[in-house]
Amino acid sequence: MRKNYDYQKIKNEVGNLVKKACYSEDNKFGEDAWDYHILIVAKRSLVLGKKLKADLEVLELAALLHDYASIVDYKFFKEHHIHGAQLAEEILLDLNCPREKTEHIKECILNHRGSRERNHKSVESEILASADAMSHFSELADMFYLTYGVHKLKTKEGAIWLKNKLEKSWNKIMPEGRKLVQEDYDIAMKILDQAINGIK
Ligand SMILES: [Fe+2]
Ligand SMILES: [Fe+2]
Repeated sequence: MRKNYDYQKIKNEVGNLVKKACYSEDNKFGEDAWDYHILIVAKRSLVLGKKLKADLEVLELAALLHDYASIVDYKFFKEHHIHGAQLAEEILLDLNCPREKTEHIKECILNHRGSRERNHKSVESEILASADAMSHFSELADMFYLTYGVHKLKTKEGAIWLKNKLEKSWNKIMPEGRKLVQEDYDIAMKILDQAINGIK
């Protein structure tokens, strides 16, 4: 069946829009948000989506847009899942993305945050939340930057803070996702435990 919308076009336009926002001077998270977060989350979402036979179009667009609100305006950060879902609706309908797909993408964005109570209604929503948490393990260097570069914590207090954060992320990842980052998790915990407790 021929689609009545051009997925590649929508994806390219959305990707360009988010990339441009990441590279804008107004983005408080810095341009690395594109390479070290958005693209990683999109990649992981697709890997999990293929394994679990999910809707890859929904996943890819939801991953690209999931943090868009706080990238375009930091004042949205606290509620960026809600603002992000609203912005996604405007952007996607404007690009002729079908209403049903747009609603599904909104649901994923609304439920992507681990710190909030999540109400997954679809496997795609669950996958996006997992991929978001998994990005903390696949880009550990960026997490060290956050701990010591951004938050300016001292060595031990930073290790304690980061370990706690990574453990929370781990608990949010679905079993299929844990398999993909198990090795990274073990390495991270070993390094952080050594910083906290010293070498045995
Ligand atoms: Fe987010
Ligand atoms: Fe995110």
